[in-house]
Amino acid sequence: MLRFLTSGESHGPQLTVILDGVPAGLEVDAARDLDPDLRRRQGGHGRGKRQQIENDTAQITAGVRGGRTLGSPIALVVLNADWDNWKGPMQVTADGFTRKQVTRVRPGHADLAGILKYDLDDARDVLERASARETAARVAAGAVAKALLRVAGTTISSHVVRIGEVVAPDSPVDQNAVEESPVRCADPAAAQLMVAAIDAARSDGDTIGGTAVVTGHDVVAGLGSYVQWDRRLDGRIAQAMCSIPSVKGVELGDAAVAAASTGSRVHDRPSFTREGGFRHLSNRQGGLSGGVSNGEDVWARVHFKPISTLLTPLRSVDVHTGEETNAHYERSDICVVPAGAVVAEAMLALVLADAVLEKFGADSVSELRRNLEGYRAMLGRLR
Ligand SMILES: Cc1cc2nc3c(=O)[nH]c(=O)nc-3n(C[C@H](O)[C@H](O)[C@H](O)COP(=O)(O)O)c2cc1C
Repeated sequence: MLRFLTSGESHGPQLTVILDGVPAGLEVDAARDLDPDLRRRQGGHGRGKRQQIENDTAQITAGVRGGRTLGSPIALVVLNADWDNWKGPMQVTADGFTRKQVTRVRPGHADLAGILKYDLDDARDVLERASARETAARVAAGAVAKALLRVAGTTISSHVVRIGEVVAPDSPVDQNAVEESPVRCADPAAAQLMVAAIDAARSDGDTIGGTAVVTGHDVVAGLGSYVQWDRRLDGRIAQAMCSIPSVKGVELGDAAVAAASTGSRVHDRPSFTREGGFRHLSNRQGGLSGGVSNGEDVWARVHFKPISTLLTPLRSVDVHTGEETNAHYERSDICVVPAGAVVAEAMLALVLADAVLEKFGADSVSELRRNLEGYRAMLGRLR
């Protein structure tokens, strides 16, 4: 229902998004709704020098008129300020083209797989698109999805729970503290240790991974379905999370705890009250039962590997000679978990907004509101 495509190279002139399926009548303003998330994606202790060059903002170039969506495809553009430094090696035309080849492929990056797949001899042709610069486009699209979800009363948040060996205590999360933290971690003591772990990786010429939790709050029950494998909301969320560069694992709810436990200790028991209707006494299943949202918050742990570009390079091969050599190094982040958490928010928003439109099938925001009201009235009758 909600589809999007992104385009653009890391050091090209711009990133472009076409977002199709947003109902008419949604209030959207780039400065108010999109730019704050783009700024949040740029933050986090451990980012590289690129973030000092960029000051990401989105331009809406189609699909919105007078601050409201038209129901037509929305086009979004995020300019790359770094393009100024790459006009020669990244120019579109052949005349006067100066190559800036990368042949010493980085272990863990897309370099070698891309060269093999697309019959290339220059990893720059791969990394320009494999680079997570592309996730700025997703964050812009995700911010529109978040605006749509607000119509359904749903909000999205994220926080970091692990950097390397440092794990935050499992306690209630103050989202203001998360937004203030340099590592998006609510616990100040853990955050301090996370910063130190990132600094240690930096001084070792290394990189470091970690884990973020992403949550959809107040998600309406009944999104997704168990009737076909590709309609299951759990599978759709897992796919969306694993599509984020450097994400190598997703746990829906307390999946690892459940795998090490017995059924009697982990299952979320349903309860009923006249005021609250049907709820669950716990939420270890991440708000998802049978691939359907069950009325609890939808939450997942997202695991990021340490990124591949190391200041002290790993040994690799040169694809032109086949000889062993040090991998290529190019200005890079040290830790992307805090920024990746913001990308995870965008991807969760896009999946949930798609599922909302699938269930409530609206061409306009007013129709969406009516359909939601009708559905909620039906749920109310169950009390
Ligand atoms: C926000 C963000 C920033 C990233 N920055 C870098 C970077 O500076 N250097 C790098 O080597 N990888 C970076 N990555 C990870 C790579 O894009 C990713 O490892 C690569 O595309 C290969 O994909 P894979 O790790 O999913 O297999 C970043 C990832 C995210 C989410």
